[in-house]
Amino acid sequence: MNILFASSEVAPFIKTGGLADVAGSLPKALAAAGHDVRVILPLYEGIGQEWRDQMTYLFNFHVILAWRTPYCGIFELKRDGVTYYFVDNEYYFKRSGLYGHYDDAERFAFFSRAVVETPAHLDWHPDVIHANDWQTALAPIYLLEERTRVPQLYGTKSVFTIHNIEYQGRYGKELLEDLFGLNSGYFHEHMLAYHGDVNLMKGAIYASDYVTTVSPSYAGELQYPFYAHGLEGVIADNRHKLRGILNGIDTALYDPAHDHGLAANFSPDDLSGKAACKAALQQAVGLRQDPNIPIIACISRLVKHKGFELVASAIHDIMAMDVQMVVLGTGDWNFEEAFRHAQAQYPGRFSANILYSGALSTAIYGGADLFLMPSIAEPCGLSQMIAMRYGTLPVVRETGGLRDSVRPNGTEHANGFTFADINAHDMTWVLGEAVNLYYNGKEAWQALQRNAMTADFSWNQSAQDYLQVYYWVTGFTNPAEQ
Ligand code: GLC
Repeated sequence: MNILFASSEVAPFIKTGGLADVAGSLPKALAAAGHDVRVILPLYEGIGQEWRDQMTYLFNFHVILAWRTPYCGIFELKRDGVTYYFVDNEYYFKRSGLYGHYDDAERFAFFSRAVVETPAHLDWHPDVIHANDWQTALAPIYLLEERTRVPQLYGTKSVFTIHNIEYQGRYGKELLEDLFGLNSGYFHEHMLAYHGDVNLMKGAIYASDYVTTVSPSYAGELQYPFYAHGLEGVIADNRHKLRGILNGIDTALYDPAHDHGLAANFSPDDLSGKAACKAALQQAVGLRQDPNIPIIACISRLVKHKGFELVASAIHDIMAMDVQMVVLGTGDWNFEEAFRHAQAQYPGRFSANILYSGALSTAIYGGADLFLMPSIAEPCGLSQMIAMRYGTLPVVRETGGLRDSVRPNGTEHANGFTFADINAHDMTWVLGEAVNLYYNGKEAWQALQRNAMTADFSWNQSAQDYLQVYYWVTGFTNPAEQ
């Protein structure tokens, strides 16, 4: 099968969040299963020279964006069985930062046009165009007409994945024709119209042949206004073609037995290296050297929907336990301040690292004991899975992909700790249980660690689930089901 996977960020080239990890690992898994998978992304200024050196210039053309005809250059890079196309337009993408520019609507409409126009220039027929989040939401909408007009797109189907429904791409109606180049026929309740505006995510949900979201629980939660941010009716209306598929992680990349970023390697059968990782972590982030104290870690954007109001309000209760805590990430100033404050108040026991660092996050996954993730909403979440791979037990709120990946202590195959309500006391209580087990239940603790480290978070199953969706929309026979 031929699959064109469109994403506004793709690891390892450029990343701001989990979307990049998925776009970096799912296509690889699909290619390994024998499919022709090509990934398309913007050539941002932030994409490093080491990658540019590996790219080949293919061709350029002018996309059609209403009355504009912006230049579009295509560069190609092949890696791990996947072909990557980088969309070059310096006016749109030679800027610092990926999102948050005044003309994001135009930048990503351009990119979405490039997605549907590139196959004709390659003379390649994608069976499926798989778009992700609002930035590429226009691609399945453009495809509706393009696939009746462009031979390389005859019969091409679309799949749209919601990684986070909070960001929908909502713009004034005046952009419909003048910028997006869509006629007023697209402005109706079962397409782009949303309270008088255009809503790109809404349009993609209607226009796509299938819609997925990144965990089964999140798919269920999206029927409630609390999680769906105004699109609950749209979700209900499209239920027949919606399904949740849990993300995987790149288990070769995140492997404590081979990760060179760790002070020592370890595995489920021999956890002894984790002690050296803990000592190295304490050293690196200014925590008191102590092999026997549990370290609670947070690695996240420090924003409200990740549950940091709970953490900030419970800091003193947490620190009243015999624990150390390390936080890594940037975000809202009030949380950054709260953690800097805690570091001053609990020297040697609380470490606030208000920055983004891949190296430090590896040291934390390897050296910590508990990984705290009390998200208000979490479509999937990848860091709890990474933490588990490194034997660092997650403490999570039961929402979205956290609920689907963490089995609470006391249940079968337990691999972590969970709480249900958005409530700092419940969170602290569960943390207390975990800390108690750390001190008084060594064997039970190690059993949880082994379960966590051996749980299957690879793409094996989920890539098959996506393929099943592709087979379903295209009507091709799935050889696995013959
Ligand atoms: C978004 C979601 C996160 C998910 C990621 C990848 O960042 O917030 O929960 O893991 O997308 O799908």
